[in-house]
Amino acid sequence: MKKRKLGKTGWSISEIGYGGWGIGRTWWGATDDRESLAALRAAWDAGVNFYDTAYVYGDGHSEELMGRALKGKKAVIATKIPPKNQGWPADPATQAREAFPPEWITACTERSLKKLDREVIDLTQFHVWTDAWLADDGWKEAVSRLKASGKIRAFGVSINDHQPDSALKLVASGLVDTVQVIFNIFDQAPTEKLFPLCRKHKVGVIVRVPFDEGGLTGTLTKETRFEKGDFRAQYFRGDNLAKTVDRVENLKKFLGKDTRTVADLALKFTLSFDAVSTVIPGMRSARHVAANTKAAGRRLPAKTLGALKKHAWDRNFYGWWDD
Ligand SMILES: NC(=O)c1ccc[n+]([C@@H]2O[C@H](COP(=O)([O-])OP(=O)(O)OC[C@H]3O[C@@H](n4cnc5c(N)ncnc54)[C@H](OP(=O)(O)O)[C@@H]3O)[C@@H](O)[C@H]2O)c1
Repeated sequence: MKKRKLGKTGWSISEIGYGGWGIGRTWWGATDDRESLAALRAAWDAGVNFYDTAYVYGDGHSEELMGRALKGKKAVIATKIPPKNQGWPADPATQAREAFPPEWITACTERSLKKLDREVIDLTQFHVWTDAWLADDGWKEAVSRLKASGKIRAFGVSINDHQPDSALKLVASGLVDTVQVIFNIFDQAPTEKLFPLCRKHKVGVIVRVPFDEGGLTGTLTKETRFEKGDFRAQYFRGDNLAKTVDRVENLKKFLGKDTRTVADLALKFTLSFDAVSTVIPGMRSARHVAANTKAAGRRLPAKTLGALKKHAWDRNFYGWWDD
């Protein structure tokens, strides 16, 4: 498994990381814990040493599974603190102390440490962020105290869906070790300002949603129906699914002997950018782990990247919860 540096932490992390939302058993329909644990173990065996989770992925369920599967292993685990005011996405009109008051940051850290069954959290991320909160001292002092006491090793934020420029001031401030951002063939906006700035300030970049919630795996059809409890029935609502399938059809001309599937193309696309530290596909099965870990160490030729620019697609399917 090829490794990259996670910004100024200096940690060597696997190019393919593990996205832990789906295994939390909420939002993604029926999910079998035994299969999730097998997928986590398969990931470790394939050389994946970076794992992303969050308390809200099943009220700690995803964290618990990771803690169990990775017990005693030198994995780098990143989790997230939810906003206390339940403001998703972060609203610049709110105050930092409404979403991340110091005592909340500390209490959530303790809660996640228990769920993960670990002494220290490698990377703690605020689950939402707006640069409007940069001047507030409360969260900064809480994060500094947690670092000084050895409860967390590094700190970052997860950037609002499709708003890569909403954390530029934070990146330039030197206050974060990492940012997590949506980046895929459809949403290429982070290449414009965020990526160059992260490289300049040595901020690690964790790429989330590389498959556009499954669209960019090439396995969805216009007939696909999502089971009860799978949020993607909303994400791909109305004609969103048909439009996605048509767009993905146009990507098939990029497939060949080196890149056989759309999923492989989607992962290699993200890894073709130097600013990217790791990409964290969601994968609940060992089969998907085996397929996805093969993309490590591979980049797309510059000509293909140039041609893929035309396939960017500016839209926000999360709209029903972001509105
Ligand atoms: N606000 C935030 O901070 C935030 C928001 C969203 C996501 N995230 C993080 O980013 C991670 C990735 O995003 P995501 O999981 O939402 O979406 P994603 O990675 O874009 O897509 C996941 C979907 O792709 C499927 N898949 C994976 N590998 C495949 C393959 N080789 N062939 C066919 N299908 C494949 C998965 O199936 P199975 O699951 O059935 O294997 C799942 O349905 C999350 O797990 C989470 O850690 C963070």
